[in-house]
Amino acid sequence: MAFSFGAKILLSYSESKSSKNLRQAYADFQHGLISFPLNIPGTAYWKCLQGRKKAVEIIKSILEERCATPRKRQEKDFLDLVIEEIKKNGSLMTEAMALDLLFVLVFAAFETTSITLTLAVKNVCEHPKVLEELIKEHEAILRNRKNIESGITWQEYKSMNFTHAVIHETVRLANIVPGIFRKVLKDVDIKGYTIPAGWIVMVCPPAVHMNPKQYDDPFTFNPWRWQGQVLHAGSQKFMGFGGGSRLCAGAEFSKMQMAIFLHHLVTKYRWRVIKGGDIIRIPAVIFPNGFHIQILEKNIQKDATTTESRETV
Ligand code: HEM
Repeated sequence: MAFSFGAKILLSYSESKSSKNLRQAYADFQHGLISFPLNIPGTAYWKCLQGRKKAVEIIKSILEERCATPRKRQEKDFLDLVIEEIKKNGSLMTEAMALDLLFVLVFAAFETTSITLTLAVKNVCEHPKVLEELIKEHEAILRNRKNIESGITWQEYKSMNFTHAVIHETVRLANIVPGIFRKVLKDVDIKGYTIPAGWIVMVCPPAVHMNPKQYDDPFTFNPWRWQGQVLHAGSQKFMGFGGGSRLCAGAEFSKMQMAIFLHHLVTKYRWRVIKGGDIIRIPAVIFPNGFHIQILEKNIQKDATTTESRETV
C-alpha cells in the first residue's frame, strides 16, 4: 500500500499497469543496503547494486517517456516538476541528479513508512490496552463529527494525542534508520576527544532510544511515556527521523499517513493475526515471513474463516 501510494504520487507508476517490477528492484536494493562490500554475483552487496541499477533503469524509462509525452497541467505529478526543473534555463539539476533524487525519494517514501506501520499494528495487537485507548480516541472523533462520511479534518488530526504517542513510540523502538551520517567541518572537542575536520561521524539513534538513562524500561512499548509532551520529530532524546538541518523531509507527512491509516483501521475494522511477525535486522528491520493479519469490516459479524473476510499482508 505504501509503495503503491508513494510511486503513484511521485512518478504515477502503477504496479498493475506496468510490465516492469519496480518494487522487486527496491526489495533487492534494500536487502543488501548495509552489507559487506564484496561485489561478486550472489552476494547481498552485488544484489543491492543490481537492484539499484534496475530501479534507476525503470525510472529513467519513465522519465524519458514523460519527456516525450508531457502531461496536461491538472494531471501533473512530482516527476513533471522535476522535468520542469531540468529544463529551466541555468538550472543546476541534471538528468543524472534527477534520477538519483527520484530513486531515493521513492525508497524513502515507502520503505520506512511501511515497516513502521507494520510495527505499529503488531505493537497494537500485542497490547490490548493500547488498542482500547486508540478505539476510544477515534470513536470520540467520529461521535463529534457532524458528517460521519466526511474526511479527517486538521483539528481532528491534531486532537489524536494518543495516536501520535503510539506512532512516536513505534518510531523510537523501530530504529528504522540505525545510523545517520555527518561530515565534520571543523575540529570538534568533545569529552576529552578531538574529532578532526574531514572525518565522517556515524550517529547511532538506537544508542539513545534504548538507553535506560534516557527512557525508563526502554525496551517496553509504552505510548503513555509521551503523555503531555510536545512531540517534535527530532530532539536530542528522539532521533527516529534524524535531526538538525537534515531532519527527515517526510517526517510530518509519514506521521499523518500513519495516523490516517490507524484511524480507519480501528474505527472500521477488526482483525486477527494469522502468521508471521518475526523481526530481524540486516541491519534494516525486516519481517522475513511478513506479518499477516486477517481484516474484517467491523459491522459484519461473520466468522473469521468465511469467504467474505479479507486477508491482507
Ligand atoms: C516512519 C517513516 C520515516 C522514518 C523513520 C524516516 C527516517 C529518516 C531519517 C532517520 C533520515 C536521516 C535524517 C538525518 O540525517 O538527520 C531521513 C531523511 C530523509 N527522509 Fe525520511 N523517514 C521516514 C519517512 C519518510 C518519507 C515518507 C519521506 C518522503 C516522502 C522521507 C524523505 C526523506 C528525505 C528526503 C530525507 C533526506 C533529508 C535531508 O538529507 O535533507 N522520509 N528519514
